[in-house]
Amino acid sequence: MTRVAGSVAVVTGGASGIGRGIAEQLIARGARVAIADIEAGAVEAAAAEIGAHPLVADVSRLEDVQGVADQVLERFGRVDIVVNNAGVGPFARIADLTMDDWRWMIDVNLFGVIHGVHVFLPLLEANPDGGHLVNTSSMSALTPFETLGSYAVTKFGVHALTEVLQAELASAGSQVHATLLVPGSVRTGIAQSTRHRPADAPGSLRDAQIGLGFSSSSRWLDPADVGRITVRAIENDDPYAITHPDRWPAVAARFAGIQAAFEKYPPIDGEA
Ligand SMILES: NC(=O)c1ccc[n+]([C@@H]2O[C@H](COP(=O)([O-])OP(=O)(O)OC[C@H]3O[C@@H](n4cnc5c(N)ncnc54)[C@H](O)[C@@H]3O)[C@@H](O)[C@H]2O)c1
Repeated sequence: MTRVAGSVAVVTGGASGIGRGIAEQLIARGARVAIADIEAGAVEAAAAEIGAHPLVADVSRLEDVQGVADQVLERFGRVDIVVNNAGVGPFARIADLTMDDWRWMIDVNLFGVIHGVHVFLPLLEANPDGGHLVNTSSMSALTPFETLGSYAVTKFGVHALTEVLQAELASAGSQVHATLLVPGSVRTGIAQSTRHRPADAPGSLRDAQIGLGFSSSSRWLDPADVGRITVRAIENDDPYAITHPDRWPAVAARFAGIQAAFEKYPPIDGEA
């Protein structure tokens, strides 16, 4: 079990939405929390409102994420929980995506998490009390759908990164645990993501509400709900934090299609 009370936590993308919701719930459980975000004014305002420490960082830049770690260690002297959550979510069909679309999406949503793991994993490993990583993915990585191609590519990457890391931590007997947070539809600011896009890299990605494609019956949660679900998963060292367990039939249908492909033809005899 990861102890939240008395811990020091870092949450990226903490100025808004899910990140802010997680930070608030960690603080409610007795953690000291630094929130890092690309938007200086928003992160300072959010930190003042929830009682966190604000840091400005663009997670797509390794040096910024290293700066977050340096500042957290300087201020708090330790780090126990890291939530790699910052992300953007605009839409376009794959045929319309420019290379700048792909690079921006992958830089923020996948390299942002890679940077967080690269910088913080050694610090958590060096913590005598162990530590916990949370990486924010999406239901769109379990049930991918049209127009979220570049987004789903990054979230599949976050799945792979987190599941391989979980296996490696377990086989090494590490005191560090990792949770994959898989949100469904959550009321946040993600439908205004394109404001973060570098001005010199235009493309086809356009803002739209991310949950719309999940299904018309999809329930919308508040960030505070996701915060509570995430803190529960951290405290129980759960490998997954699922916000919409009622979405399992759609996930099972996808896996049934994959299973059918496995069973369609008999195996070919190969050399032993
Ligand atoms: N809202 C949903 O329905 C939903 C569903 C599945 C997954 N998610 C994921 O949840 C995470 C949080 O998104 P949200 O819905 O809370 O959106 P949000 O826009 O409310 O919050 C995202 C935060 O990340 C920050 N950010 C964006 N680019 C950044 C960068 N390069 N460096 C640092 N900070 C940056 C933004 O300023 C913002 O404060 C994302 O990874 C998103 O993909 C959201």
